[in-house]
Amino acid sequence: MCGIVGVLGNHEVAPILVEALKRLEYRGYDSAGIATVNDGHLDRRRAVGKLINLSDKLVHEPLRGKSGIGHTRWATHGAPNEGNAHPHKAGPVAVVHNGIIENFGRLRDELQAAGFTPETQTDTETVALMAQMFMDGGMKPVEAAFAAIDRLEGAFALAFLFDGEQDLIVAARKGSPLAIGWGDGEMFVGSDAFALAPMTDRVTYLEEGDRAVVTRKGADIFDARGHLVSRASVRIEDNDGQVEKGGHKHWMSKEIAEQPSVLADVLAHYLPGGQLTFPGDALDFTGIDRVVMVACGTGFYSCFVAKYWLETLARIPVEVDVASEFRYREPPLSERTLAIFVSQSGETADTLAAMRFAAGKCRIASVVNVAQSTIARESDLALPILAGREISVASTKAFTCQLMVLALMAIKAASDRGTLTQDALKGRIAALSSLPALVSQALAVGPQINDLAQELSEAHDILFLGRGAMYPLALEGALKLKELSYIHAEGYASGELKHGPIALIDSHVPVIVMAPSDALFDKTISNMQEVMARGGKVLLVTDAAGAEMAGHGCWGVIRMPEADPMFAPVLYAIPAQQIAYHTAIAKGTDVDQPRNLAKSVTVE
Ligand code: F6R
Repeated sequence: MCGIVGVLGNHEVAPILVEALKRLEYRGYDSAGIATVNDGHLDRRRAVGKLINLSDKLVHEPLRGKSGIGHTRWATHGAPNEGNAHPHKAGPVAVVHNGIIENFGRLRDELQAAGFTPETQTDTETVALMAQMFMDGGMKPVEAAFAAIDRLEGAFALAFLFDGEQDLIVAARKGSPLAIGWGDGEMFVGSDAFALAPMTDRVTYLEEGDRAVVTRKGADIFDARGHLVSRASVRIEDNDGQVEKGGHKHWMSKEIAEQPSVLADVLAHYLPGGQLTFPGDALDFTGIDRVVMVACGTGFYSCFVAKYWLETLARIPVEVDVASEFRYREPPLSERTLAIFVSQSGETADTLAAMRFAAGKCRIASVVNVAQSTIARESDLALPILAGREISVASTKAFTCQLMVLALMAIKAASDRGTLTQDALKGRIAALSSLPALVSQALAVGPQINDLAQELSEAHDILFLGRGAMYPLALEGALKLKELSYIHAEGYASGELKHGPIALIDSHVPVIVMAPSDALFDKTISNMQEVMARGGKVLLVTDAAGAEMAGHGCWGVIRMPEADPMFAPVLYAIPAQQIAYHTAIAKGTDVDQPRNLAKSVTVE
């Protein structure tokens, strides 16, 4: 993973690099570093932890120069300490890297046999050492960088800086995204356009296998076969530059609160004037006999909820798979299969690899938040979820917006396949249209959850239960809680509890039951009673009727507004998010940047 940036500028570059790294911190925040060339001399500063530590270091140990590269890290090889932080330097070469060099062990052996001694546990250092070895052998910097790149297997976005070269960055992309930014007598390199947006409004996305020789005059781009190629540039806008927390203490609380308005945006986009509108004919479910849905983490749970919707409403078989498993089991795909890839960032390496596996074998659609992302650009049809920039690492508004797009897609599928009457279709559309207002009401449960959070934060294990489409929501609730509060949490299908997990129940294990008063309510409540009979502490999240029927004897009852039970997962996502948020605050963890995580996971 990690974020990389490079600048050949006309001003002191250290503050510019740090500003760009701030915009890339969502890609990892274990450590950060920059390297510059000043008066021909290559030097670097690195610091463990958040970017603020690097900024502090630069106050006491400034780094001068108008050319530089920078990096924010999510550790893959080697602990997150200063020695393993990028840029890695070997002799006259400094390198920043996003990705994984899979053959680094073999390269290390080769380097050691040639007399070079690695000083870190990272895969990246081998890249710098390889380039150094080639330069020692007489190659010029560009030639040496290219020769090193030729030897690499795996995924990488790389930027090289060289001692004595004030007007040169060599960049390369294979498997990890990289953009070149065009300025006026200045040039830039970055993991994404967002990082470059304050410096330029024009970027070129490198394609797979591309290498670029960047100077202040421009960039020569070579394709994987070494041919000089011309790649189009696109205009970018810095719409997100002004994003503020708007009075919220955390990005997460702001993003939770934004859900009524972004969900309304999704409806306005796909249901203008109440008419279901998907682009072109690309999403036609008539010739399809199977849907395959693939994603990671929270996106996977969106797919899992959508499976219930597509199968119930459109009577079409749906398989869901986590992206890191999908391509390795080589699933059979045909022209009558629609494969849907769901990703907030649109850069998740596992999902991208799964999509590339499916390309050419079946129809492909993606459901993405970042419109310029690789997944959006490479899919046949990209459906935006319009959540706006999600900064907090834990996904909240992107989850509910994904659900809303997928619910609309399920209704479209039902309409195409004639599985619902016109009245039933209208009823479902009306139910979806009411969700922004209901989500707004649901936000009012925040203070009540806050009151319960202290006790939840003292637990070592917490279980979430749900049935039907609330089962994937139970999984999502548990994921959100564990990633934010570091409390062990698991989601289960309520009916599955008695087949094993019930052994975990005692008075110290809170059990959170997500159960609108739907057709499955009585069964879920029986499972809840089984927990209470064993001394379990139940927090029941339900509507008024459910609270009336089953609230007695629970440790806590959260009352939700009534909704069409079919789409209740969208509404019940709100208390799931609030439970994670308030519990994390009660525990004192870092809500927006939990340990060990990153927003965009660009390694497999
Ligand atoms: C959890 C979370 C992650 C992401 C996952 C996929 O809160 O955010 O589980 O959902 O890493 O990321 P995207 O959707 O960007 O592909």
